[in-house]
Amino acid sequence: MSENVEITKASVDAVVSDALTLIQGATDLASLKAIRSSAVGENSGITKLSSLMGKLPGDQKADAGKLITAARAELNEAFSKAEAVFYQAEQNQKLLEESVDVTAAPMTQVLGARHPLSLLQDEISDVFIGMGWEIAEGPEVESEWFNFDALNFDADHPARAMQDTFFVEPVEAHLVLRTHTSPVQVRSLLERELPVYVLCPGRVFRTDELDATHTPVFHQVEGLAVDKGLTMADLKGTLEHFARIMFGPDAKIRLRPSFFPFTEPSAELDVWHPGAKGGARWVEWGGCGMVNPNVLLAAGIDPEVYSGFAFGMGIERTLMFRNDVKDMHDMVEADVRFSKQFGVVL
Ligand code: PHE
Repeated sequence: MSENVEITKASVDAVVSDALTLIQGATDLASLKAIRSSAVGENSGITKLSSLMGKLPGDQKADAGKLITAARAELNEAFSKAEAVFYQAEQNQKLLEESVDVTAAPMTQVLGARHPLSLLQDEISDVFIGMGWEIAEGPEVESEWFNFDALNFDADHPARAMQDTFFVEPVEAHLVLRTHTSPVQVRSLLERELPVYVLCPGRVFRTDELDATHTPVFHQVEGLAVDKGLTMADLKGTLEHFARIMFGPDAKIRLRPSFFPFTEPSAELDVWHPGAKGGARWVEWGGCGMVNPNVLLAAGIDPEVYSGFAFGMGIERTLMFRNDVKDMHDMVEADVRFSKQFGVVL
């Protein structure tokens, strides 16, 4: 502003009109804010005009002051009005964007469910943990020695071929995908102090095709107790207790003579399943027996001092006849609609 400008009605009107033009040019809150200083603030024409006040002779100050004050009031009001309009517009826009369509389909969070095989495995483990047993684990890729030799399978024993085994290459490494959880028996005996009471749940592998009752990958649970003075009566009592918890107080078990290289005597284990669909009946459940002295010897245990019993059963099979699952495919496909039937348990 040049020096010869004076505070007159005309000069004040001019700066007011300039400032109003600036304010009218704003399109939103942000642009209004950007012109604040040049329209009404320290860089505005009105501020510059008012700085001339100091140089005015005393008798002109009152009039000039009135002009300036009125002009400021007008500009401030115009500015506030514009601000209010833009603020309201932005609020309206926000409300529109954030509005909730109450007719829209709700967002649903689909809950998963633990697999019934995991649940059953935990349930079985709990039965034995409740009796003071420990959980033991072993590798799924197992050395042939643990899977067969230490369990008293002869090199050319038919039982070795009986178990349709996945061998892992190179064959010289003598590794297999374990065909049962029994190798964990030997591992537990080598790793632990006596007496040993362990339950070994885990995944096992056999070269079966997937069909309604078979799957090449399935689960077993193995039990092993080695202590002084254990007899077949301890085996029976343990299995009976286990059966009652799994199948109800009316469940009972029966042992039929059988053969496993790692137990002597050996037995097939049947369970009387009172809740079976279509009526109570005997169901083949697993294998069991007294630990063969040769297995104890393989683990460096004196069979004259210690004896033991062992048992093993399939978890898929148990789930099938306990919960009337008819097709193995349901268990391997991991469809949550199948799992949910067993409850969403954490
Ligand atoms: N390992 C045997 C099987 O897979 C089951 C078994 C376990 C038998 C322990 C006796 C003792 O068929």
